[in-house]
Amino acid sequence: MPALVLLGAQWGDEGKGKATDLLGGSVDYVVRYQGGNNAGHTVVVGDQKYALHLLPSGILSPGCTPVIGNGVVVDPSVLFSELNGLNDRGVDTSKLLISGNAHIITPYNVTVDKVTERFLGKRKIGTTGRGIGPTYADKINRVGIRIQDLYDESILTQKVEAALDGKNQLLTKVFNRRAIEVGQVVEELLSYADRLKPYVADTVLVLNQALEQDKVVLFEGGQGTLLDIDHGTYPFVTSSNPTAGGACTGAGVGPTKISRVIGILKAYTTRVGSGPFPTELFDEDGDALRRIGGERGVTTGRDRRCGWFDAVIARYATRVNGLTDFFLTKLDVLTGWEQIPVCVAYEIDGRRVEELPYSQTDFHHAKPVYEYLPGWSEDITKAKSFSDLPKNAQDYVKALEEMSGAPISAIGVGPGRDETIEINSFL
Ligand code: IMP
Repeated sequence: MPALVLLGAQWGDEGKGKATDLLGGSVDYVVRYQGGNNAGHTVVVGDQKYALHLLPSGILSPGCTPVIGNGVVVDPSVLFSELNGLNDRGVDTSKLLISGNAHIITPYNVTVDKVTERFLGKRKIGTTGRGIGPTYADKINRVGIRIQDLYDESILTQKVEAALDGKNQLLTKVFNRRAIEVGQVVEELLSYADRLKPYVADTVLVLNQALEQDKVVLFEGGQGTLLDIDHGTYPFVTSSNPTAGGACTGAGVGPTKISRVIGILKAYTTRVGSGPFPTELFDEDGDALRRIGGERGVTTGRDRRCGWFDAVIARYATRVNGLTDFFLTKLDVLTGWEQIPVCVAYEIDGRRVEELPYSQTDFHHAKPVYEYLPGWSEDITKAKSFSDLPKNAQDYVKALEEMSGAPISAIGVGPGRDETIEINSFL
């Protein structure tokens, strides 16, 4: 009954697409359990590069059933354009399953996301502007619209009315915007119903039956541990639970079914949007990481903030997710530095702190305490096994493993599908 969770151990963008894709060929189901089209996976297959935002990356592996779970928020227009793009390139998307309980990102949720960010000014979160937060807010406020609502026009109309009641007051009286018309929204939402229909399923039942039949199910987290609404750097987080527990609620699978939790860990650190980031670099090293690592958002096109590896964060990710393994990505990006700083602890108001502080104030004051590891200059992109790596690269990996608290079972040494060193099999 192998059920694996694969998630970002830092602030997202760790290269999950590559890791899921690596496993995609041997798994029967790849499931997204939270987030929406705020995520961005780049998957390179042969000479083809695919950028996926909402769809699980398993969609690129024939034989694998991609699933959008109940915990995901779905923007149907984005879904269709992503499906069209893949179909145009000959990718079969007919096996996709979408939970009828997944919430819909409505046009007014996108409006509210953008208006709120503008209103916050300097205090903004730096969201992707895709309506993610307001859609989850509606879900929790019990005024959300679910995929299944598209198949009962009367219920849909009542729900849109309920959702817009308060929002229109806010839009017109606080934000000085025009009110949104119920009829127009209902019409737009209904226009998606027919095309969505063949994909809509009771995904909780499907997944649990699959596990009973010993199928391999991979749960793919969007964003990352430090962007988790409960365990991340709140309020500079996304509005869902990318951490391992989110896989259970966001897909309807019990925790006793999860057999392995793999954290994707970049060999350095990046972050998009606002919020604290102790190892952030503002010098030419930061520019070099950004340039060599191609650190630009797949979803928003924004430059990512870059910094050295932070072992405090990695240890925290091991703990809150119960990680069994790490997949270390982008080790090749570090080739060429004479020595590589690694943050082993923080200094907070004169104290040395080994673990991530729960207090936001402390974390904002955290300064990195660095250890300097010797670098390497050899090209490592052709390495097929751990022993092919230069000694200093091996030592870097071993040091990270020791500091982070879980075995590094795979190492990415280049963007291609085959540029991965597998140390322990994930299956
Ligand atoms: P939201 O998810 O659009 O509400 O944005 C909230 C925060 O999460 C912002 O700082 C975003 O930049 C960040 N974020 C959302 N999705 C991703 C992702 O896939 N990778 C990295 N950061 C993300």
